Amino acid sequence: MARIIDGRKIAKEINESLKVKIEDFIKKNKLTPKLAVIIVGEDPASLFYVKMIARSCERASIDFEKYSLSGKTSEKELLKLIDNLNEDKKVSGIIVQVPLPEHVNQERIQEAVNPSKDVDCFNPINMGRLALGKPEFLPCTPYAVYELMRRENIVVEGKHTVIVGRSGIVGRPMALILLQKKQYANATLTICHSRTNDLSYFTRQADILIAAVGKSEIIKRDMVKKGAVIIDVGTNEVEGKLVGDVAYEEVLEKVSVITPVPGGVGPITNVMLMQNTLKAAGKLIN
Ligand SMILES: NC(=O)c1ccc[n+]([C@@H]2O[C@H](COP(=O)([O-])OP(=O)(O)OC[C@H]3O[C@@H](n4cnc5c(N)ncnc54)[C@H](OP(=O)(O)O)[C@@H]3O)[C@@H](O)[C@H]2O)c1
Repeated sequence: MARIIDGRKIAKEINESLKVKIEDFIKKNKLTPKLAVIIVGEDPASLFYVKMIARSCERASIDFEKYSLSGKTSEKELLKLIDNLNEDKKVSGIIVQVPLPEHVNQERIQEAVNPSKDVDCFNPINMGRLALGKPEFLPCTPYAVYELMRRENIVVEGKHTVIVGRSGIVGRPMALILLQKKQYANATLTICHSRTNDLSYFTRQADILIAAVGKSEIIKRDMVKKGAVIIDVGTNEVEGKLVGDVAYEEVLEKVSVITPVPGGVGPITNVMLMQNTLKAAGKLIN
């Protein structure tokens, strides 16, 4: 029977120590870290996510400000707001919630966020730094996976890690984080995606399997190695319930460690955003 990782407990522990660090930071610097979140339009998933961020900020004693813009906002207006927030000495971190309306060029918007305030790590400068093994910020979801593995003493060095998914926000930066020359990294990696022939040939070889696909229960029992560590990043809504990319019940008996969905990686993600916001606040005073 697998060891089931309790992401909620890990998130709580990180948050408690982070809160202490933030309170110390406020006392020492007379500055409260502040996260500005821009949301354009009314995408329900984005609205929900922003509500969760607000809650995380409150828990961590971080100031939060939401800028809700109409779906008709022009790119120029959005760039102007980002400019103002870039200049605002009270704002430590900026998030521009995606998806953006079609008439707005997402890349141009992400490039406009000052790299020192880019707590989501979407600016190509920050992604480039990560690719070079000298990251400034780590994107929150793969950062959450890394932190979870570090805290659970899941060592990737010397093992074969297979990541399924190569998106810019999960799979690809996950690979870059695990490739770093540091403890709990130094991974030997295989990255799979939708054009991979015979996915199970690769997943069966994984000592550590990280699924970030967005397809409910695509990873079945016969696709995992006995005793593997399974990190399920997927969050898929099926008949009103949240399920992962891994057929959890099927694989539970076969693997050694597994993260559930919900309650695995998800709760840790926003806490890492708070960690990045504190780091960004430190840049304002240096
Ligand atoms: N827990 C959290 O905090 C958190 C945060 C972010 C995302 N997520 C979840 O993580 C999942 C992935 O998110 P994402 O943003 O990375 O999704 P995405 O942008 O849609 O990327 C999905 C990746 O999976 C690959 N893929 C699709 N079908 C495949 C198949 N049949 N076999 C192998 N690979 C396949 C795609 O390949 P191609 O590149 O070839 O298209 C792509 O690289 C989603 O369920 C999302 O909700 C969770």
